[in-house]
Amino acid sequence: MPGIVIIGTQWGDEGKGKATDALGERVDYCVRYSGGNNAGHTVVVGPEKFSLHLLPSGILNPNCTCVIGNGVVVDLGVFYQELDELASRGVTVDHPLISANAHIIASYHATIDKVSERFAGSKKIGTTGRGIGPAYSDKVNRVGLRIQDLLNADVLAAKVEAALEQKNQVLAKIYNRRPVSAEQVTEELLSYADRIRPYVVDAARVLNDALDDNKVVLFEGAQAHHLDVDHGTYPYVTSSNPIAAGACTGSGVGPRRIDKVIGIAKAYTTRVGEGPFPTELLDADGEKLRQDGAEFGVTTGRPRRTGWFDALVVEQANKVNGTTDVFLTKLDVLTGWQRIPICVAYDVNGERTDHWPMTMFDLEAAKPVYEYVDGWSEPITAARTFADLPYNCQAYVRRLEELIAAPISGIGVGPRRDESIVINDLA
Ligand code: GDP
Ligand code: IMO
Ligand code: MG
Repeated sequence: MPGIVIIGTQWGDEGKGKATDALGERVDYCVRYSGGNNAGHTVVVGPEKFSLHLLPSGILNPNCTCVIGNGVVVDLGVFYQELDELASRGVTVDHPLISANAHIIASYHATIDKVSERFAGSKKIGTTGRGIGPAYSDKVNRVGLRIQDLLNADVLAAKVEAALEQKNQVLAKIYNRRPVSAEQVTEELLSYADRIRPYVVDAARVLNDALDDNKVVLFEGAQAHHLDVDHGTYPYVTSSNPIAAGACTGSGVGPRRIDKVIGIAKAYTTRVGEGPFPTELLDADGEKLRQDGAEFGVTTGRPRRTGWFDALVVEQANKVNGTTDVFLTKLDVLTGWQRIPICVAYDVNGERTDHWPMTMFDLEAAKPVYEYVDGWSEPITAARTFADLPYNCQAYVRRLEELIAAPISGIGVGPRRDESIVINDLA
């Protein structure tokens, strides 16, 4: 099974980092293919907790080569900060590679992200403020800066100047901000050039060669299906393609090289930022889920919005991504409820729908239709086989599996590396 993609099936923070890390030593290459340091992936190894934003979670495995693909937008300051912090904690970090075609997040992208959100007021997206949207806009608009541009000072200077020509007008005339100096930006970016040089590769070639060699290549998705710019709850999405197909465009491998798509689904639902969320709980139950699940953002520290499991959300993601296996995370967080609601359909203006609505206005109008299963009170963090789980807990998992149209092959019962139940081997 050489080509494996991990994706989020909800709105992010499903536990992709932990699932990636759990595949551990079987993985030869771990690749980020979309997004940037808007991601926050947590891996807990014994008493140590690591929060990764830009580097693939495979960095914690010394035998794994980490690759930042062309589909990622790279904040170089964050790249070095993360490498240095990991090195200071004793992690071997001499193995990241970075695509020459990956785009750069420059300081002005983060500035534009923040000022445009402020300008949007109540219509804001609730972005992470990391410059993600503006960097991808420049890429599509063909005025982006790429990693390879760092290797030629003249090329870089000309591109920065061209990129800032229009932006400085917008910054000054619309947002009332000081124009950005092209020289300063170029200088700052060039200060990263020497250190980046040894890491820069034709990542598409490296990965295809690795797959030809039967190496196990894991594509670690960031964000999630419902944050995808094409398939998510637009415009309340990120600006890239976190879906499984994004692994191909974002790293340069053909679709036939993907053998497995592992969808990560939290046993309930969370979302950060604005946008529709049919099963959201705004009451004490929502607060209990937030506290029990420690649902606070890894990147921005924002409290996550919480709600019950929405089968329509996950089923839609599984359909569009061709999910072969689901890894159900944070099941332990649901211990202690007397009964647990599962959203099995929506009521849209008086009509029942069993599938994800086609339009955003129907989604905005959707009211969850719940089915209830009995809860369990025994802690389950020590469970290592499905049979170890209490009967009602097994019934909850089985019911979810019927609703989401993909087999549940693994279950998370705690944040630590070893706190999982493996039902079918994932690599
Ligand atoms: P990601 O962005 O998808 O990698 O997920 P995050 O790291 O942002 O959020 C998931 C959180 O849940 C992290 O704090 C993980 O340590 C934690 N976590 C992951 N799996 C489990 C699990 O099965 N049980 C519990 N209790 N926590 C988990
Ligand atoms: P991981 O990989 C949860 C959300 C933001 C905002 C929207 C757009 O940890 O699951 P952006 O800064 O990308 O332009 O923000 O997307 N968002 C995430 N939510 N987890 C993430 O990553 C996210 N990355 C972006 O909150 O609503
Ligand atoms: Mg996260």
